[in-house]
Amino acid sequence: MPRKTPIDQILSELHSNAERPFEGARAAPAGIYTSPDFLELELEHVFSKEWICAGRAESLKKTGDYLTLQIADQPIFVIRDKSGGIRAYSNVCLHRMSILLEGTGNKKFVTCPYHAWSYDLDGNLRKAPYMDGTPEFEKKDYCLPTIRCELWDGWIYVTLNPDIEPVAKRLQSIKDIVTGRYQFENYVETFREEHIWDTNWKVLAENFMESYHLFQLHGPTIGKQSKVEEMDMPPGNAVFNYHWITKESEFALANAHPDCRYLEGEWRRTTALITIYPGHMITLTPGYFWYLVLQPHGVGQVKMLYGGGMAPDFINDPQGAEHVAKAKQILDDVNEEDRIGTQAVFRGMNAGLARPGHLSYLERPNHEFNQYLARLLTGATACPEPLPEALSAAC
Ligand code: FES
Ligand SMILES: [Fe+2]
Repeated sequence: MPRKTPIDQILSELHSNAERPFEGARAAPAGIYTSPDFLELELEHVFSKEWICAGRAESLKKTGDYLTLQIADQPIFVIRDKSGGIRAYSNVCLHRMSILLEGTGNKKFVTCPYHAWSYDLDGNLRKAPYMDGTPEFEKKDYCLPTIRCELWDGWIYVTLNPDIEPVAKRLQSIKDIVTGRYQFENYVETFREEHIWDTNWKVLAENFMESYHLFQLHGPTIGKQSKVEEMDMPPGNAVFNYHWITKESEFALANAHPDCRYLEGEWRRTTALITIYPGHMITLTPGYFWYLVLQPHGVGQVKMLYGGGMAPDFINDPQGAEHVAKAKQILDDVNEEDRIGTQAVFRGMNAGLARPGHLSYLERPNHEFNQYLARLLTGATACPEPLPEALSAAC
C-alpha cells in the first residue's frame, strides 16, 4: 500500500523522478500525498521556510482589520496598525497560551477570550485584569512576538524564516514575466472565503497547474472555451511555474474590457495561471482573477483560502455588479468540479495498485513542482531556470 511505503523509499522515488528530464518524467509517487512522515517533512522544510501568502492587502482596509492563518504549528494574526502598516504577530496569548483571534474581523485591541489580557495593535500588553497581586508581574515585560510580514504586488506574505530574502526581491521575476503585463496591482478583490476539501494539498496544487484536465473535468462549464492546442507551458524558475491559455472571445469576462488600453492583440484574450511555491495559485485573466492559498490540514485534507475579483474596467462598468456576480458563479461552478476531481484522485492514490504514469507535455509545471519539492526535501538539484545564486541559496 502506498500509505505504508517507508519514507526513505518515498524520498528516493521523488528524487529520481525529479532528476529525470521532463520528457521521461512520471507523476510523483503516491507516498508524497499519503504519508504522514512526508507531511512532517513538508511542514518543517517547506512551509516553515518559505514565504506564505495570507491574502490581498486590500482585505485589511481599516485600522484594526485582521485576518488569521497558521503556518505549520504556529498560529498567526495579521492586522492593519494605527500607522496604516500591516503587521503580523503570534496569535497565542502570553498568559496561558490561548489562541487570541479567530477568522477575520476588526479589533481596537486584541483581547484574549480566556482571561481578558489585552494587547494594543503594536503587540504590547495594555491590560491584565487581577494581576496586581502578583509582585513579579510587569506588564511592560509582555509583547507579542512579531512574525515577518511583507507586501508584494498587492499580496500579504508572512514567513517563519528569519533568513529568507525579502519577498519582493524573491518574487520579482513573476512580476517581470507575467503579472506586470496585466497591471494586476489595480485589480479589485470582491470575495475571500475559506474551505476545507478532502484531498492532499498537493493534489489540488497540481490540479491547478495543468490545464490538461479542462476539456474533460470542466466539460460542463468552461471546457469548451479553452483550447488545448493554444496552451503554452514555458519553463518557470526556482520560485514559480506558469502557463498561458487563451479563452474564446464570447467568454467576455475573461477577455479585456473594451475600455482596456494596456493589453493588445492576443494578450486581450490570454489567461495566465501562476503557481508560486509552495501553495499560492493565481488565475489572471484580462477581466477577472481568482486565487487559492493552500495549506495542509493533515494528510487527507487541504485548507484553502479562495478569493478573487475583477479588473478595474469591469468593476467601474455600469454593469459592474452583474459582472462580479456572474464571474463568481462561474468560478464556484468550476471549483465544485475541481473539488470532485481532486477528491477522487486522492482516493485513488490510497489504493494498493496505485502507480504514477507518464506526464503529458501539458503537465510540465507539475514536473517542475515535483523538482521544487525534491530540491527542498531530498537535495535534488534539478531546476528549470535557476535564479541567481543569492536567491536560489534559500531554495
Ligand atoms: S490565556 Fe489569555 S488571558 Fe489567560
Ligand atoms: Fe480545474
